[in-house]
Amino acid sequence: MISNEALWALGRGTGITALVMLTVSMVLGVLTRSGRPMLGLPRFGVLSVHQFASLAATALIALHVTTLVIDPYAQLDLVDVIIPFGGSYEWLWVGLGTLALDLMIVLVVTALLRHRLGHRTFRVVHWAAYALWPIALAHGMGSGTDAGTVWMIAIDIACIALVVSAIALRLRADFTEFSDNRKVALR
Ligand code: HEM
Repeated sequence: MISNEALWALGRGTGITALVMLTVSMVLGVLTRSGRPMLGLPRFGVLSVHQFASLAATALIALHVTTLVIDPYAQLDLVDVIIPFGGSYEWLWVGLGTLALDLMIVLVVTALLRHRLGHRTFRVVHWAAYALWPIALAHGMGSGTDAGTVWMIAIDIACIALVVSAIALRLRADFTEFSDNRKVALR
């Protein structure tokens, strides 16, 4: 039988690795919009790693939530996992985690159904990723036992730096491969 100490450590560890995977997914998701090869990967490689990182983050979040529900310390109910801000333990910060999970479910389901939904609907819903990532980050920073440690602060800063850099790149006029051609075509 797995001890409570081990469950608690697993719950925290899977939360941290889920945040890192979510960051990788977010950065590569932003970079796929360029249409260019990036970070030494061909353009379809960027998309494949983005999809893989999203799947890994989903599996880690599932493990994070399951271990923390089984663990007696946080006293989470199944309802707290789906409906945000109703729990007694750190209700605001844990509620943000629940909100992040709800958004993650929407993103994963619409990604799996994207051929049925059509590209436009899929893209509009996929914008929710820009809300999911900072909500998940705030959840970890607010409720995590390790949030005040030097190594966790370093992980949070690295994640923020990566996402901010990717978004800054995305906002550059020459970000998309064919941006100039499009402008010419529109004239
Ligand atoms: C996108 C989804 C989520 C991500 C990326 C995530 C990530 C994290 C991270 C990074 C931590 C900090 C761990 C530490 O400092 O050691 C954490 C803590 C925590 N998470 Fe999540 N989480 C998510 C969803 C959820 C959900 C849905 C729940 C349950 C309702 C939840 C419950 C908790 C609890 C209770 C803690 C506190 C653990 C502690 O005190 O160290 N999380 N999470």
